[in-house]
Amino acid sequence: MGYTLCIIKPDAVSKGYTGKIMDDCIQAGFVIHGIRKVQLTEDQAKSFYKVHEHKPFFRPLIEFMTSGPSVALVLEKEDAVDAFRDIIGKTDAREAEEGSIRHKYGEDNRRNAVHGSDSPENAKKEIAFFFANIDLI
Ligand code: CMP
Repeated sequence: MGYTLCIIKPDAVSKGYTGKIMDDCIQAGFVIHGIRKVQLTEDQAKSFYKVHEHKPFFRPLIEFMTSGPSVALVLEKEDAVDAFRDIIGKTDAREAEEGSIRHKYGEDNRRNAVHGSDSPENAKKEIAFFFANIDLI
């Protein structure tokens, strides 16, 4: 079994999509091992997205991710990272496949409803960013 980290981003949380997105995850066969609602500080958001710090979209990404509460989920499934990226669709919600989470609940390439880890190694780091072992089932 593998694990991945999902962040339900401030756009989706503020629109009331948290429950729908969690249900989509469960319907797709994921088991939710951890849930945490958090409003990221600027330092936390910059640290989480450090790999993008020199990209032109970094500043607006940090402003967006600190603009309201997010919900972090630890999801388990076989090949969880790839399986989750399959159901969320392309980064830009306008290009995401019909029926995908980003297509259903996102707007564009910043307000794209969810984040999913891009490798098992990063999933491990990202899960440790949000959760202590005691928080996980
Ligand atoms: P996420 O999966 O959270 O990982 C990095 C985020 O940066 C990505 O989703 C988008 O929200 C954002 N992002 C990536 N590319 C762009 C872009 N071209 N313009 C604006 N935001 C972007």
